[in-house]
Amino acid sequence: MIKTHSPRAGVAGWPVDHSRSPTIHRHWLKELGLSGSYERFAVRPGEFRQFAIQIGRGELVGANVTAPHKEAAFKVCDRRTQVAEALGAVNTLWRQDGLLWGDNTDVGGFLANMDDSAPGWAGRAKLAVVIGAGGAARAIVYALKSRGFERIAVVNRTQSRAEALAAHFGRPTQATRWSDLTAGLREADLLVNASVLGMAGQPPLAVDLSPLPDQAVVADIVYVPLRTPLIEAAGARGLRVAEGLGMLLHQAAPGFARWFGAQPTVTPALRALVEAEVLATHMEAG
Ligand SMILES: NC(=O)c1ccc[n+]([C@@H]2O[C@H](COP(=O)([O-])OP(=O)(O)OC[C@H]3O[C@@H](n4cnc5c(N)ncnc54)[C@H](OP(=O)(O)O)[C@@H]3O)[C@@H](O)[C@H]2O)c1
Repeated sequence: MIKTHSPRAGVAGWPVDHSRSPTIHRHWLKELGLSGSYERFAVRPGEFRQFAIQIGRGELVGANVTAPHKEAAFKVCDRRTQVAEALGAVNTLWRQDGLLWGDNTDVGGFLANMDDSAPGWAGRAKLAVVIGAGGAARAIVYALKSRGFERIAVVNRTQSRAEALAAHFGRPTQATRWSDLTAGLREADLLVNASVLGMAGQPPLAVDLSPLPDQAVVADIVYVPLRTPLIEAAGARGLRVAEGLGMLLHQAAPGFARWFGAQPTVTPALRALVEAEVLATHMEAG
């Protein structure tokens, strides 16, 4: 019998149907003419370890990890990248020299998208305001620290979570109250929404952008809808913007390169493909 060794990868989550990762990775496999496959793995909470230990054995070369398994993925790893260690969460797994490795590619994905969408965005880097204090906000605060922001103000519905995040990262991160947001925006170089606000099915993000300086950049990591009301409002004010979809596309690249052995790129064709899919799903749901 002839045995084929076609590498398999996929995304593990619960639920996982909504994940756009298969579209991204399958596009790259086709574009680069590689043999391999990328699937959705519906892994129940509590069953992540059994899933993860299969990686690197047989044809399963690795996986992306989405909610609710990013902390479980962190725990199951034998080794983690420096970024994953700092965040306490893993979204990309592979096996190397027999050991299970984990990375967190949200940081790199956010930075690559900012560099693409708003070149020079971190040039002044005096004050960034981040809305949200969940897993994505952690990655973004880490990313902003790495680009040398002098102050990073975190605003969140649950103030204690903003304080915990600020304590985790230390200076220059500080928790800021919603009531102080408007004053903070007057000096901000960057505003990032890293909460679920503005996402389809969630409450809107009610922020008045008028205090922001004209050279400020506004980023939203929400990508359903593709252009959130925050992005629309920033665009209408003439501010430079970075949309959430770019981060999603860029964060996928490092995993692909490790599993399939070729460096993929984020092209307009890929963007158009995923945009069409998000749009179709969003219209169906709406
Ligand atoms: N573009 C990308 O590549 C990318 C990557 C990762 C995540 N995301 C998106 O980023 C968003 C956050 O993801 P996450 O993983 O950080 O989620 P998470 O860990 O569950 O955090 C959710 C955040 O949203 C806030 N929030 C939830 N409901 C709220 C409400 N009704 N009013 C005000 N704040 C509310 C939470 O505040 P509390 O602390 O008060 O609960 C928390 O700050 C999601 O929309 C996700 O799809 C995008």
